[in-house]
Amino acid sequence: MAGFSFTATAATCDGTDLATLARAEGTPLYVYSRTLIERRYRALDTALAGHPHRIHYALKANSTRGLLEVLHAAGAGVDANSGGEIAVARCAGFEPHDIVFTGVGKSRAELEAAVAADLHAINAESAGELDRIDRIARARGERARVAVRINPDIDAASHPGISTGGRAHKFGVPIDDARRVCREAAARRGLRLVGVHAHVGSQMTTLDPVRRAASTVAAFAGELRDDGIALEHLDLGGGLGISYDGAPALDVGEYARTLLAAAAPTGLRLLVEPGRWIVGPTAVLLTTVVDVKPQGGGDRHFVVVDAGMSELLRPALYDAYHRIAPVAPRSGPQATCDVVGPLCETTDVVGLERRMVLPEVGDVLAVLDAGAYGSAMASNYNRHPLPAEALVGGGGWRLVRRRQTVDDLLACEPAAGGGDVVPAARLA
Ligand code: LLP
Repeated sequence: MAGFSFTATAATCDGTDLATLARAEGTPLYVYSRTLIERRYRALDTALAGHPHRIHYALKANSTRGLLEVLHAAGAGVDANSGGEIAVARCAGFEPHDIVFTGVGKSRAELEAAVAADLHAINAESAGELDRIDRIARARGERARVAVRINPDIDAASHPGISTGGRAHKFGVPIDDARRVCREAAARRGLRLVGVHAHVGSQMTTLDPVRRAASTVAAFAGELRDDGIALEHLDLGGGLGISYDGAPALDVGEYARTLLAAAAPTGLRLLVEPGRWIVGPTAVLLTTVVDVKPQGGGDRHFVVVDAGMSELLRPALYDAYHRIAPVAPRSGPQATCDVVGPLCETTDVVGLERRMVLPEVGDVLAVLDAGAYGSAMASNYNRHPLPAEALVGGGGWRLVRRRQTVDDLLACEPAAGGGDVVPAARLA
């Protein structure tokens, strides 16, 4: 049985027992299904077949190297948002021509490295950034491949914190300025304008913003063609949402048809940058109950677990909902459970008001759909070590990240009493 299965008697990932995994590796533990990652990549790739395209997986969703190796083997390219992501992608086997580089605040060092590497495209976010790239490339006697990210002023109808395509958002070149900016970019000796890019938001659950963004970008590419600018591609970003509550989600086929309806008439190659849709449903976060206590009478309880906002930030940051399922279900009456983390913050929640049989200390719970923006946004807050991550496949599992140790936590700090004083006066 591929993927995750939760029955009255057992919880499994690709047939591997999750309770066994938790016992062997401890918790908090991210568990990924290799089969699901491959299947979801292939499903999107197939849905886009019939038109030249490339899936540039958005590394920010999850860039654990072991997962990237799976996607690399499947044929993906990547969308990087920092020099660090580019470095990790290179370690996982991706070549510069597999990489597009987005990001609203690329540093000088990042731009220099990106130009030197000759990436597939640097998605430039402003006229100023185009100017910086042009100067760097000319100094090297080269032409940098750039795409211009436009801000089409489209509401993604998603959570405000992850909507990026509106006029008030910091991303991209305002659509009203974009034609002039692109004409100027095309005339620069250090730049080769190869594409236009837009990403209007994440976790989109309706097709309307997808359609509007795609047709805006396609129409804009047409205007550039009229200006004599021959592009190679349209990059329509990521953003395809998943279902976190089990209700039907946007259909990947419909999503692909919507993109292709806009892109196909342009004759340009289509690039997409999905993150969440590819990896979100491919992982659970296993966490152990460390305390159970009643709150104010009734059947409402706090269920305190060993993973919180340091392991999975989404509920604290966006009020995000993730289903929670016991790995070894108990029988008995249901209670209302506030599943909370161990950190010193009231916002440190995993899921509130969940009806479930009251767990006991030591029980393992699985937090579902944790593959995207889970481990990638984990932190050492309260000196929590980053959790271990297991990739299930081939009839067993492999740790693609070991749990951090106390030595790891202190690796960047001098030993007690150590750390030489840097003489400020001499360096001034
Ligand atoms: N391309 C660009 C330029 C992006 O900014 C993003 C996501 C993506 C692609 C991938 O979007 P996706 O297909 O995953 O929706 N931490 C938030 C999500 C932030 C998304 C940021 N940008 C969360 O946990 O929901």
